[in-house]
Amino acid sequence: MKVLGIESSCDETAASVIEFTHDAQFNLLSNTVYSQTDEHAVYGGVVPEIASRAHMERIESITQKALADANTSLDDLDLIAVTSGPGLLGGLIVGTTFAKSLAFSKNIKVIGINHLEGHALSAHLTEDVNFPYILLLVSGGHCQFIEVLPESADNNKIPKSLIYKELGSTLDDSIGECFDKVAKMLGLPYPGGPAIEKHAKLGDPYKYKFPQPLKDKSLSFSFSGLKSAVRREIENKELQEDEINDICASFQETIAQILTYKCQLVIKSSESKNFVLAGGVAANRLLRNRLESLCQKNNIEFYAPPVRLCTDNASMIAYVGAIHMLQDNLNTTLSLRPRWPLTKI
Ligand code: KG4
Ligand code: ZN
Repeated sequence: MKVLGIESSCDETAASVIEFTHDAQFNLLSNTVYSQTDEHAVYGGVVPEIASRAHMERIESITQKALADANTSLDDLDLIAVTSGPGLLGGLIVGTTFAKSLAFSKNIKVIGINHLEGHALSAHLTEDVNFPYILLLVSGGHCQFIEVLPESADNNKIPKSLIYKELGSTLDDSIGECFDKVAKMLGLPYPGGPAIEKHAKLGDPYKYKFPQPLKDKSLSFSFSGLKSAVRREIENKELQEDEINDICASFQETIAQILTYKCQLVIKSSESKNFVLAGGVAANRLLRNRLESLCQKNNIEFYAPPVRLCTDNASMIAYVGAIHMLQDNLNTTLSLRPRWPLTKI
């Protein structure tokens, strides 16, 4: 079974082909991503109209490249899986219209995939992850703990259906948003996460003491107070390069401490013996290292996708499409859902 995945929900235009053989074995045949960051950088964030146009200009060539890299023609495909939410409406329209047209012209099945389910299962692309697991999903739009568990106890490698149970979430900003906004305040380029990580390597993580909001027993997060504290620290100051480095390092250290604290709570409150870190912010080395050591201390298996599969890609979309096909769960209505919580799949 070969599945073409297409992703266009934010500022990456991506396509990928995945092949499932027997017994749920699979090969990732291609993973093509065009990142629009340069087009948005001057505005300090994603501009929806620019994103839709850029998707429209690239989606055909990116898909052709993914098929060519996979040595696959449209006639070999069994399914097209396309992100149908959540995300920016314009990008979703481009991706789903393109996918539907291809599918119609070649009489291939097409299904809409929840982008967050893609991130949730992205660790399976490279590792054998056992269910149930605690997922910490940290991306540009989300920061939440989700328990991922099979609906009924079966021994299949691919459970018949999965339940996503929210255990806690942010009350205000997402974590990626917090990285991006702090970077913007410091005059660093978009996307902020990689820029802050780069500067943090050269700075002192204990130079500034930023607050850790919601350091209580709840599994909720809050980042707006931290963001405002950084704003107050730098207001009306001409920052030198080493001060920017110290702020980045101290900010990143604060985020790492908040996440480590909350992850310790969730691990203690759950029976799961597996932990997955996923989403764009999971690309951050410090966060990966801290959470991996925390899991080791608690005798929990830790998984995170390789960095290239943390940020938006279509392999995770193709994978979820293939899983739905194996589960015989092909909802082909393809309605667009700009808002679509993982718990409402
Ligand atoms: O998952 P993603 O690619 O898109 C969404 O679904 O939102 O996540 C994008 C977010 C951006 O906010 C970006 O700044 C952040 O992930 N990010 C990082 C790193 N790489 C990307 N944050 C911290 N450290 C990184 N290395
Ligand atoms: Zn994403």
